[in-house]
Amino acid sequence: MSFGRPHRHFARTDSTNTRARELAAAGAPHGTVVTAAEQSAGRGRQGRTWTAPPNKALLYSAIVRPLEEHHTMLPLAAPLAVCEAAEELQPGIKCKLKWPNDVHLEGRKLAGVLIEARPQDGWAVIGVGLNLSIQQDEFPAELRDTAISIFDSDGRTKERGSAGPSPLLSGRPPLLGPLTAAKVLSERLANWVNSEPNEVLAAWRSRDALLGKEVAWDGGSGVADGVDDRGYLVVVTPGGDRIAVGAGEVHLTSF
Ligand code: BTN
Repeated sequence: MSFGRPHRHFARTDSTNTRARELAAAGAPHGTVVTAAEQSAGRGRQGRTWTAPPNKALLYSAIVRPLEEHHTMLPLAAPLAVCEAAEELQPGIKCKLKWPNDVHLEGRKLAGVLIEARPQDGWAVIGVGLNLSIQQDEFPAELRDTAISIFDSDGRTKERGSAGPSPLLSGRPPLLGPLTAAKVLSERLANWVNSEPNEVLAAWRSRDALLGKEVAWDGGSGVADGVDDRGYLVVVTPGGDRIAVGAGEVHLTSF
């Protein structure tokens, strides 16, 4: 069950998720991927918009079909695949996962995932926005302190950490753009989308950015204590109760 064949790339489209949903509704096979250099109406979770300068982010949507039992883990499996793809594109970085499905690097948001499923028709679209070479001043003002990219402005490997660049990366590393990133992500998705739920849960838990952190949402707060076997966030409330909250029910307002 691989991803990337067929692959349709747009110079500009409204939303790759919208294109992929149309293709899925028209019968496109499992693994169909849609990418774009630029989106005019990119969509994020909770009705938000998703913007990125042309060619500076991976804007990727993939069709999963048919939907099977283990695909209930898609909301955890997809960000896990994005984490691994980012680490392959930029060796040396270590990504974490912020429930429900954000990918974080150095405490900032590197990528977001928007899954749109039509269980009645047996398909889902996994949408991924991964910041590749967006510079801090190119992010919208409200995201400038909380967003990050993996590469420098020219798409080359960033120098990170006090030890400086790896000797293996001396000289000019090759340009890594959205199409390379799409290929790497397709490979990682093929692994995680088809994995058993217990493998997905174990890998996800090993990257949990919220573990032990204070979290709050409209009407509740507590200390995050991992995810349960359904992928719900477990929270210990100030009163000492352990409760599990689903991504559809709560929207974290702070962590
Ligand atoms: C989030 O809110 O964090 C999820 C963002 C998902 C954005 C990606 S960009 C490619 C795909 N097409 C869209 O319109 N949205 C997703």
